[in-house]
Amino acid sequence: MTTRILTGITTTGTPHLGNYAGAIRPAIVASRDPQADSFYFLADYHALIKCDDPARIQRSRLEIAATWLACGLDADKATFYRQSDIPEIPELTWLLTCVSAKGLLNRAHAYKASVDKNVEAGEDPDAGVTMGLYSYPVLMAADILMFNAHKVPVGRDQIQHVEMARDIGQRFNHLFGNGKELFTLPEVVIEEDVATLPGLDGRKMSKSYDNTIPLFGSAKQLKDAVARIVTDSRAPGEPKDPDNSHLFTLYQAFSTHEQQAAFRAELLGGLAWGEAKQRLFELLDNELGEARERYHALITRPADLEDILLAGAAKARRIATPFLGELRESVGLRSFREQVQVAGEGKKKAAKTARFVSFREDDGFRFRLLDAAGEQLLLSIAFADGKAAGQVTKRLQAEELDLHAELNAFSVRLDGEAVAYSPEFSTDAERDAAMQRLREALAPQE
Ligand code: TRP
Repeated sequence: MTTRILTGITTTGTPHLGNYAGAIRPAIVASRDPQADSFYFLADYHALIKCDDPARIQRSRLEIAATWLACGLDADKATFYRQSDIPEIPELTWLLTCVSAKGLLNRAHAYKASVDKNVEAGEDPDAGVTMGLYSYPVLMAADILMFNAHKVPVGRDQIQHVEMARDIGQRFNHLFGNGKELFTLPEVVIEEDVATLPGLDGRKMSKSYDNTIPLFGSAKQLKDAVARIVTDSRAPGEPKDPDNSHLFTLYQAFSTHEQQAAFRAELLGGLAWGEAKQRLFELLDNELGEARERYHALITRPADLEDILLAGAAKARRIATPFLGELRESVGLRSFREQVQVAGEGKKKAAKTARFVSFREDDGFRFRLLDAAGEQLLLSIAFADGKAAGQVTKRLQAEELDLHAELNAFSVRLDGEAVAYSPEFSTDAERDAAMQRLREALAPQE
């Protein structure tokens, strides 16, 4: 079983060293696990909530995309995309909005913080609060639930949002799942051992404190930033205290145990702060030098980045499009033409109904046949249009079924051509039982 890991990066800034150590590096390492199916995306719809400067949004999307690829994300293995390239996400946001309790969203930290600030300042509680900010957790729930993520690695400030995604998903399952888990309920992952890096002044490295070290500035910019790290006033030759030096903490985040032990010994032995900064600069330059070159090469080829992200979006939509079709179906947004109640319509045995669900994909129109419990019995080939798919569903109900056992599945043929396939089964007996169930589901009722 693979684990689906999903996380989003809000595109409002330029990545700094703290983002790299705290989020980018561990996520890329996790994506290389053969058991991992990673979905990493640029949360650019979320960025619009916080930022109304189009140029900044655009620059940040480009910089963040280039950063992830330069740092070694394999866009063929992981699914790497922009949220705004997936129209199914805002559509799912609406379906979820309709089941999200207002009271739940009233409790969201980000919204509450704005209200508290307003109240303190004697303003109207909702002054400056947009519906975007208020609904932020619903959009985030759609990001997560759209792809049925198992694990969502985030910073501590996002834990509540992942919990809300669980709540909303659970509610939707309850209302529309018909006993089936439409949505996987996600688990939050907080990386305990990744360093929260201190910034130049020793507080958490953060753009809002203006204490960051740029990730892919020039070597000179890196050196200048390191030179501005605040140290105590101990003179060269005087022993330094590594455990109370954030310069040493920064060094630790990028070095081996041996390097750390050697650096610690040097500091205790009276190494001058100037020298210590030179050591840290070399360490960082060594870690980042190659990626920096890749970054600058990528940034100068935005059209290539566009291609990579569009390919990622196409890959993501191969999942999102049919799944959203199923969700629309579940809430009652169904085609008048193609949705056919198979057996027992209007009869007493209505419980025993299987149903066809049609949907559209990049390559054409398909349908599924679901049994009464919502289990998939068949998935069709792609048809040129909805009408062709509809005709096939009608014939399947009217004609003698022509089933063919394949390796660990079976096909249904019309005029000798396979038009739909069963899921895969692990044993022949299961496959044969499913063939029997299909015959029963499609048999005309008395
Ligand atoms: N809100 C997250 C942040 O600011 C970014 C984000 C958007 C996200 N959608 C997500 C993270 C889905 C995880 C899963 O950090």
